[in-house]
Amino acid sequence: MKATAIAPSNIAFTKYWGRKDEQLRLPANSSIAMCLSNLLTTTTVEFSPTFKKDQIIINGGKDSGEVERVIKHLDHIRKIAGINLKAKMVSNNNFPSGTGLASSASGFAALTLAAVKGAGLTLSEKQISILARQGSGSACRSIPGGFVEWLDGDTSDTSYAIQIFPSNWWKIANVVAIISQKRKEVSSSIGHQAAYSSPFMATRVANMPEKNKLIKKLIKEKDFKKFGELIEREALEFHAITLTQNPSLIYWTPGTVLLMKLIQKWRNEGLLVYFTLDTGQDIHLICEQKNVNKVKTKLKNLEEVKDIIVNTPGEGTRLTREHLF
Ligand code: PMV
Repeated sequence: MKATAIAPSNIAFTKYWGRKDEQLRLPANSSIAMCLSNLLTTTTVEFSPTFKKDQIIINGGKDSGEVERVIKHLDHIRKIAGINLKAKMVSNNNFPSGTGLASSASGFAALTLAAVKGAGLTLSEKQISILARQGSGSACRSIPGGFVEWLDGDTSDTSYAIQIFPSNWWKIANVVAIISQKRKEVSSSIGHQAAYSSPFMATRVANMPEKNKLIKKLIKEKDFKKFGELIEREALEFHAITLTQNPSLIYWTPGTVLLMKLIQKWRNEGLLVYFTLDTGQDIHLICEQKNVNKVKTKLKNLEEVKDIIVNTPGEGTRLTREHLF
């Protein structure tokens, strides 16, 4: 059977960094994120006795680095479905991969739903989120829509994402500034493995439950200023871990640093905008939707910014009849 899914990327307000269980991909802490309306992966999967081997085509064949991981994920779903048919999988992103825009999140979320349906399985949202997590941790947060929380859990069955507020809860935006389309040198999947070597990791993990509680309260109360301050501090704390783990990871480029400083300057001048950033050079500017045009105008004047993508809180992973082959 053939099935196609569309999945959003998501931006974490509190970050997943480090795993308490490598094998099961259980995160060191729970994390809170928002699904993104305009950073999308579309994936078609078909299992058929006519296929002699798995055929995986990601972004027109440009992203061959992920093929092995995709086949491993398909094997997992084949095992659950009790089938041994080979598959054809075609997947396209509408944005650059591997630059800090969480392409693995939307990629593994879309792959999971398309493969589950293609294999003829009927699973709950929770079960699909658990499966997506095993492909790429943050992918579990792209399954439910809107504002989501990934519960860290102590077992595979208790580590999955739930919606905490729907997408229309709060009119905020994520304006992505693309600094460069260059792929990062070290994937986050590898980076996670050394998180506990940072001398600051234990303190971070101890403080995360309180921070997550506070962030949920600020989203509930729609207190944008306090929310913005907290997510910016959290992004910098997460990078303090990557910078001090062994071997250290420096994901910023000069353009990233320049923009971080400019955002703080714009804020001092009265524009309420904050930043967050993941494992890459691109920056996510978070503002209220009423300020999107002002933020875009500022970004358009900078030669360091190669492209701008505006997102509002988005829907979760869904099926479509528009197959890619
Ligand atoms: O799911 P992964 O292995 O791509 O890790 C994502 C890690 C960060 O993007 C840096 C943080 C997060 O919570 O999304």
